[in-house]
Formats: sequence, structure tokens, C-alpha cells
Amino acid sequence: FGNNDHGIAGRARKYRVTLDPRMDSTSPTGEASVHDDAMKESALNATVYPPASFVNNAHVSSLKQYNDMYRESVDRPAKFWGKIADELYWHTPYDKSKPVHSFNFDVRKGPISISWFPGGKTNLCYNAVDRHAASDPKGTALLWEGNETNQDEVVTWAQLKERVCQLANYLRSVGVGKGDNVTIYLPMVPHLVISMLACARIGAVHSVVFAGFSADALASRLVDSKPKVVLTSTGTMRGAKPIPIKKVVDAGIKLSKDKGVHVERVVVYDHPALPLAQCNWDESIDANWSDVVDTQPKDSPVEWMDSEDPLFRLYTSGSTGTPKGVLHTTGGYMVGTYATFKYVFDHKPDDVFWCTADAGWITGHSYLAYGPLIAKAKCVVFEGVPTYPDAGRCWDIVDKYGVTVFYTAPTLIRSLIRFGDDVVNSRDLSTLRLLGSVGEPINPEAWKWYHEVVGKRKCPIVDTWWQTETGAHMITPLPGAFAQKPGSASRPFFGVVPTLVDSQTGKELPPGPGEGVLCIKGAWPSMMRTVAGNHQRFEETYFSTYPGFYFTGDGARRDEDGYFWITGRVDDVINVSGHRIGTAEVESALVEHDKCAEAAVVGYEHDIKGQAIYAFVVMKEGVEFTAEMKKELVMTVRSIVGAFAAPDTIHWCPTGLPKTRSGKIMRRILRKIAAHEEDGIGDTSTLADPAVVNTILEWRGN
Ligand code: WTA
Repeated sequence: FGNNDHGIAGRARKYRVTLDPRMDSTSPTGEASVHDDAMKESALNATVYPPASFVNNAHVSSLKQYNDMYRESVDRPAKFWGKIADELYWHTPYDKSKPVHSFNFDVRKGPISISWFPGGKTNLCYNAVDRHAASDPKGTALLWEGNETNQDEVVTWAQLKERVCQLANYLRSVGVGKGDNVTIYLPMVPHLVISMLACARIGAVHSVVFAGFSADALASRLVDSKPKVVLTSTGTMRGAKPIPIKKVVDAGIKLSKDKGVHVERVVVYDHPALPLAQCNWDESIDANWSDVVDTQPKDSPVEWMDSEDPLFRLYTSGSTGTPKGVLHTTGGYMVGTYATFKYVFDHKPDDVFWCTADAGWITGHSYLAYGPLIAKAKCVVFEGVPTYPDAGRCWDIVDKYGVTVFYTAPTLIRSLIRFGDDVVNSRDLSTLRLLGSVGEPINPEAWKWYHEVVGKRKCPIVDTWWQTETGAHMITPLPGAFAQKPGSASRPFFGVVPTLVDSQTGKELPPGPGEGVLCIKGAWPSMMRTVAGNHQRFEETYFSTYPGFYFTGDGARRDEDGYFWITGRVDDVINVSGHRIGTAEVESALVEHDKCAEAAVVGYEHDIKGQAIYAFVVMKEGVEFTAEMKKELVMTVRSIVGAFAAPDTIHWCPTGLPKTRSGKIMRRILRKIAAHEEDGIGDTSTLADPAVVNTILEWRGN
């Protein structure tokens, strides 16, 4: 089973980071005894219960209540989801005389299909903005915090609606309407959320591309989705570093033009980090946001969308090929993000919610934008970086805005632990009542630190497992109902039926403790409906490996209490700082370098990032492998994929990669070498040339 082969089984249990001395059981001599280790281990694994003060006010406040609701969600989905859907506005109510959903998950029985809330018509933007602008126009919607500590802006519900309507009017004026694609390449300014909402308002399908992707990566997404309009900014600041955003867009558009894709308009927000006058400007395509958008009328009609009309596509990496456009639709995504936001973050009207994820990723889509806005939460949107101007920035923001619910990635927590507890303790975090984690397994040590130092032992932690494809949380604690086991995402959310499958036989494991490949039985409202423009790829990627199930790509263990422990990806996807990177993408970028003949990329454990990228390269005949060459290769990946995908280690393989006689690269061996586990390399006799392994090992550290 692929998990062990990937060397990441139990990764969450293996981490060691330097911790607060109170939690460190090392003896004064510096040597930990076996006894101390055992104590430490059991302290780390101890179950943590939510405080009574939290439980008493929670939406779901006991395991029994969860069990009853869960049962209903699975046995009587129409009743369960009907109640939640009724909390939202439907222009045309969906047809309650029909089943609430229909789906086929079995490729042997015909095409994969999923639909929810038949016949309903609604609009995400109306639910996320108009309702609240009507009931509480002066109330706070967005709390924007810029890169510098003196840059901020409060956007009220009425203002949010006006700004969304202005952009909606502009988009319509240039011929963008229902079903048209719009690409958004913006830093974390209010314009980003406004852009998504304006598209949703008029029924255009947005494709947000994280503004850290390179021009090449942007171009391939433009070529795939062929938008009429791109929404962007002149630049942004990330800490002390200016980033020229429009320059990337210009280059991306040029590249896509070479491939026959014609973007008609680029609307540019003049960001103070880089004056518009300093950007290249082409009157025939570029338009200044303040000229063309801010001058539009402040109201704009809503396009009523069918439940299954597309809402957005978001590109994500898989084990093979180019990134795929994960397509989400209207009704199910709306109900799914709303329900999870309400129950998992136990939403209360006075909450100030801060999700640190960029809206360029699914976490930002579902829990920076749609989920919280539909639920009328006040949301912090932060443009800067957590360590600028110093490592206390996150806690300053919590203090400044009185953040009550904080949602971030383990990698951020691990990177902040290093700066010590004083950085946290010197800020007032008394408003926090709930903490969240997403993107990768959280190791128990980071969990403990988050719980004790940030949450002062009074905030439950929701460790939320989900994916771009699932649209919303899938396995997660409900904070008032569950005992928490550090490192476990715990149990399924309502309506989600996870199961473990034996990778050898393809059969489901019997209930009870076990470890296998994580699959999902049956459809949930917010799941992706297809890969945009390639339904066959959708079926092959998610439904062909284990017919009848949705295959997640993750491995998991289920313990005696039915808690799930995610062990990591079982496919060729690496999770670096919570960002999904396909090994194939990095490999094809490396071989774009004209001196690189072949490349194989694997992940290895990294204290802060979770996983890091290890690239094995074979150079062309006669090419010398120098420090300079190494730099060039890293630069190639940065420019083709993006800085976040740059390999951490490049390892030269002078006589080639380890391959079987049929020419298949044996990644198992490469993973062992990357993990410095040479002893575990095992049998190499099936290799075409077993000697290559020795040459590779000899060149370690070159
Ligand atoms: C991983 C991010 C363990 C997992 C929302 C999944 C996690 C991939 C967790 C999806 C978690 C996400 N515990 N692993 N709480 N959350 N993952 O599409 O491997 O960017 O398949 O969605 O991240 O990454 P994606």
C-alpha cells in the first residue's frame, strides 16, 4: 500500500520541533530518558475536551446531538439539507417533490454525475451580500489590513454591495455574461473578494489564479479557460518586497496570445505599491479600475442561476499532467460552505473571523469569501505576510480587530513557534474562542503549542480535512461536541460518508480500526461536478481507481473511536506549506532547461513546511553540474511554475535515474534517498542498472 512507500505514514506523529520548555520533558543534562519520552508521547496524545463555557453556547453541544444530526443527514438527506437550504434565499425554491440529490459514482454504470437541489434558482452574491446590505447596511463586512500596519479599511455591507454592483455593471458593459469566464489575478485586497462576488452576481464563472503563480502558469490557465476579461492590480507588497503583478499578467497574456487566446480587457487596480504610471500600458486592452469601474452605477440586477450552473473553476495539481480546472456549481456549493462555516466554526453574530489563506486557493474561496459572507461574518482580509514587520504581526492583527475565530495552516504555526512564546504573550489574544487548522496534517506538538500558547487552553481546535475538489470541510471536529485528539481530523461532517479501502484488493475495510486509502461513498452538496472541459479526466482521476467511490488521493487510519488520522497523499502530489504541487509539473519544468535531460521529483519531510521538494536530475551529455547550474534549475522552476514550487534540494544523478527494465522510474528508492534512509532502500535487483543507486548516493550533497 502506497502510504508506507511514500514514507509519510504517521508523519504527523514523527515531527519534532523545539517547543516551549514547559512542554519539554528533557532532563537538565539534556538527555531525555525513555521514561520521559513515553511521558511526552502520552502528554502529546492526550485527549483534550472543550471547556464547558464553549460547549454551553455551541450550535452542536454533545456527541449525541452530533450523532443524531449525522444519522439524519445520511438517512434523510432531503430533510437535513432542506432545513439548512431554507436558511438561505432561493429565487425559485428547489423542487421538494423530487429527491434532493441524484448521483452516479460508478463508472461501470454510466457517466459520473452529481446534482443537488433540483430546479432551484438562487445567487451566491445575493446570499452573501444583498441580504446583509438590506438588513444591516452599516454593519462591517470586510476588515482589510494591508501590508503596512497603518494601512487598513473597513468595508460595510452597503459599500460591499455598491462596489460589487459597479464591477458587475462594468463586466456586463464589455459583454461578459452568464457562463463567460473571467480570470482574477489579484493580491489580497478587497478588490479580490469583490471580483469573485461580481462574477457570481452576473453568472460569470471566475477562475482565481493565486498571484504567486508565474506568467507561464497563468498563461496555461488562460489558455484552458479563455477569459474575455482579466482583473488584476499594478503590484503588491509582500513584506519588504515589492511584487510587480501586472508585469506577470502582461507576460501571461502574451504567452496565451501565442497559443491563440485573445483576452479583450485587463482591468487594473492602481495599487499604491506600484503606481500605474510605472507599468506598461496598452490602451487597446488595459483599463484603469478607478476610471471604468468606480464610475459605474451602484446597483445592478442579479442573474438568477440554476442550482447546477457553474460558479467557478479553480486549478489544482494532481499526480499527472497539467493542473485541472476543478468546477464547482451554485446551489450545492452555497449550502455546503454555509453549513460547514456555521457548524465547524460555530458561528455567532459577534464573531470576527480571520482565515489567513489567500483567496487564490480553495480555503480562501470557501472560508475567506463565500462561507463567512453567506453567514454574515465580519471577515479579516490580510494582504501582508505573517512575519512583517515582525513575527508578532498575526497576533497584532488578532489584538487590533478582536479576532474571535482564527483559521490557518500548520506550516504557519510551526514557523511561528520558532520565535518563542513571548511574541504571542505580549499581545492581547483574549478575544479568541476557536482555532482552526487546514491544508496538511498538524503534528501533535504544533497542535499543543497552538492550543496552549495561542488558545490559552480555552479554544477548541478544528483540524479540518478537505480538498479543492470537496469544496467544503469533510472530516473535522465540531468544536462543542467532540473530544479532540491532537493530530486527528476526527469524524465526518454531516452528509459525508468516508471509508477506508484496501489498495490491493479495492475492497472496503470492515468498520473499526484500520488503515487504508481514504474514499468517500455518495455525494455531498459542495463536491466538484467535473474537470472543466474534460469530464473524462474527472472520471479517471477520482472514480476509476476504486469504482463506486470518490478517491481522495489521501491515506488515513481509523482508530477505535472512529476518529480519522490523515497520513498524507498516496499519489504523486507533494504538500509544501499546505500548497499542493504535482511532481509531474516540477519535473516538466526542470526539463524545460535546455541542459537538463531528465528529472524525478519526490517529497521529503520538512520541519516547517511539512514536506519539501527533492529533485533528482540527469544532465545532458557533457554538461558540468555546478552550483551555478543548480541555481539555474531552481530559477527555471520558479519561472515556469512559481516561487512556492522551487525545489529545496537538487541532486545530480551522473549515470541516470534508477529505472526498472521496462523504463519506469523507481520512486520508492528516490524517496528513501531523499529521506536519508539508505538502509531502507531494499531490493534493487529489479533495476535495469542497480549500480546507478551507488552513484547517486556518492553524489549526495554535491
Ligand atoms: C491535505 C486544501 C491532513 C490532504 C483544503 C488533501 C490535509 C490536500 C488537511 C488538499 C488536514 C488538507 N489534515 N491533510 N486537516 N487538509 N489536507 O486541494 O492531503 O489544496 O488531499 O485543499 O491537502 O489540498 P487542497
